[in-house]
Amino acid sequence: MGRLLIVSNRLPVTVKVEEGEFRITPSAGGLATGMRGLHEGSDSLWVGWPGELPRLSEARREELEQRLAEFRTAPVYLSQTEVNRYYEGFANGVLWPLFHYLTDRVRSDAWKDWQTYSEVNERFAQRVAAEYRPGDTVWVHDYQLCLVPVLLRQLVPEARIGFFLHIPFPSSDVFRIVPWRTEILEGILGSDLVGFHTYPYLRHFSRSLNLLLGVEPDGERLVYANREVRLGVFPMGIDATRFSALAESAEVAAEVQSIREELGKRKLLLGVDRLDYTKGLPERMLAMERLLEREPSWRGRIRFIQVVVPSRTKVESYKAFRRNLDELVGRVNGRYATIDSVPIHYLYQSVSEHQLVALYRAADVMLVTPLRDGMNLVAKEFVASRSDGDGVLVLSEFAGAAAELAEALQVNPYDADAAAMAIHRALTMPREERRTRMEALQRRVFTYDAYRWADTFWKRLQEPPAAEVDRMLSPAGPMQELAARLRAAKHLVLILDYDGTLAPYASSPQLAEPDEELKRLLKALSSRPGTSVHVVSGRSRELMSRWFGRLPLGLHAEHGFWSRPQLGGEWRPLKVRALEWKRRILPLIELVAARTPGSLIEEKTAAITWYYRMADPELGARRFEELRRLLEKEVSGLPLEVMTGPKSLEIRVRGVHKGAILDRLGAKRGITLLAMGDDATDEDLFGALPAGGTAVHVGRGPSSAAYRVADPAAARRFLASLLA
Ligand code: UDP
Ligand code: G6P
Repeated sequence: MGRLLIVSNRLPVTVKVEEGEFRITPSAGGLATGMRGLHEGSDSLWVGWPGELPRLSEARREELEQRLAEFRTAPVYLSQTEVNRYYEGFANGVLWPLFHYLTDRVRSDAWKDWQTYSEVNERFAQRVAAEYRPGDTVWVHDYQLCLVPVLLRQLVPEARIGFFLHIPFPSSDVFRIVPWRTEILEGILGSDLVGFHTYPYLRHFSRSLNLLLGVEPDGERLVYANREVRLGVFPMGIDATRFSALAESAEVAAEVQSIREELGKRKLLLGVDRLDYTKGLPERMLAMERLLEREPSWRGRIRFIQVVVPSRTKVESYKAFRRNLDELVGRVNGRYATIDSVPIHYLYQSVSEHQLVALYRAADVMLVTPLRDGMNLVAKEFVASRSDGDGVLVLSEFAGAAAELAEALQVNPYDADAAAMAIHRALTMPREERRTRMEALQRRVFTYDAYRWADTFWKRLQEPPAAEVDRMLSPAGPMQELAARLRAAKHLVLILDYDGTLAPYASSPQLAEPDEELKRLLKALSSRPGTSVHVVSGRSRELMSRWFGRLPLGLHAEHGFWSRPQLGGEWRPLKVRALEWKRRILPLIELVAARTPGSLIEEKTAAITWYYRMADPELGARRFEELRRLLEKEVSGLPLEVMTGPKSLEIRVRGVHKGAILDRLGAKRGITLLAMGDDATDEDLFGALPAGGTAVHVGRGPSSAAYRVADPAAARRFLASLLA
């Protein structure tokens, strides 16, 4: 079996040069800490950035590469400009705040950094491609590298590529603020499997795909660029056993004891966060202030240790944020400190793993109150460290972890009063309740740990696609044979559907006008000796005349209700019964259309069609169901039928379908018939073909046709091959 290539912006270790020496330390942040154990326990290779380094000589670089190779890591170096523009600019000045819904922190001056963002993503893809060996699996991580999947796919088409987003995927309304939204989506869709921490993130992603790329995921899979891409929810876990073992170690026990001795009777509250404006630190300080204000009995009886790990220190908004936070802590402490006690102990530094676990283990209450967080592993680490079964977790409902950790005291971090009261409740919670809640939390954290997380993702990534899209298509050989047979025919009749067959669907049906290339193709085909070409469509005859009226074609509008057999001929309708039903039904459809912004109605002679391609997809789908039920009730007992089409619903006179046009062509002997179509209405035509007639289906979806091509472009190529 091949190796796992882990790709993330930051390597699990960060390199600094101090007094001429390389200093290699573990990286902070959930991605690095969560994946580290997995990496250590397998034969994976980790491709990423080792951190900001001065310019290195060739020899020094080689020395560093050797050191890094010991950690099975392959560095991608970034120049100073790249750090400024890709890392601090586009990744952390645009995508990070935007994906966390903090739009006022988006640096729109960093729009210009998109170019560097794509270039650096390209470099990462090249580096991975250079390391790639057949059979390897590539797992790309996080928002810094959204374009790597598609870029790598171009370099190594057969690679199995997974992508996991460690931060929230925002609502489509927020996501579409970024000018390169389609490029970002297309970048991610280069992978075979896209993973998120929670279902809402997946839903937001699907909706953006739908709105911006017109892709409609079918549950957890979709087809894009003729490849299947799967989506999935994989809530990331931690190495829980490792934390509980550490918590039980003698070194930690000694540290816990010294912390508790120093505390005396005071209660310990704890916060551990990277210094980041997403973590809700000012709001947490205000909640503490509110608690001390409203419950004076806690004054002098609590200590709140807040560990703040330095992060992204050169990004301007982080610098300003730090200054404000310092001031706020000073204010609260100034107000509530006593001679022998300061309420907030604010440590701006990273702590060792032992110290961290000792703090987790010693705390009475853990405060994890981000404004928005993809998952938040600190919350899970606290739970795993409580081998004593005690301690209370106060958790923001806006952390991804809240979806799993239901037994925590969940709070809205923006509501300082409620947060203060939750802290009070946590501090006064009876022992029995603490234990019950902690037990339930531990069950989850230990069951769904980091290994299980990676294993589930990995297994899903290895699964072959549900339907190999390429395999559904007819291979080149049989298509060429079919073309040869058609070319040799004495009398060839081509019956071609328009929308979805000769031209892709447009957002509005009025916009799907045929282009010049198509007109030339149709003209050339009908000038071919012994060949007649018919275009058949569900569209009105007025539109068909406008689009194709001057071409030497047979035209069939409204699914064959109207036919114009050849250029210069008259449009003739099928004989049908009275059409007064339309007067009754039309207002019903109009009412639904009026309640579905963006949808529209096309009234035809023997049919009414309602389209909702431009409407909101969810609302459209809901109204579609509503209208379908309504119309089905209306048509019962009448010679009418309700047909569903792509993003449309049609009510029409029964018996008027595309198959009916075959009668009008007159079943001459010695004719070779070819029908091409893409949807259910074309199946009527395929079903009515006489023996010897051939059907070609365009695109995906079920069909009785013997042949299948991918899309309108492929359909046109096939038709052009008949001219050879
Ligand atoms: N952490 C760290 N250094 C420290 C304190 C904490 O690396 O001094 C770790 C912590 O143990 C956790 C990670 O940083 O694993 C933070 O992950 P989380 O998912 O909570 O938030 P993120 O930083 O990824 O936004
Ligand atoms: C979050 C992100 C990670 C990132 C980490 C630390 O966890 O999801 O991708 O590595 O923060 O941030 P940094 O910018 O220092 O890598």
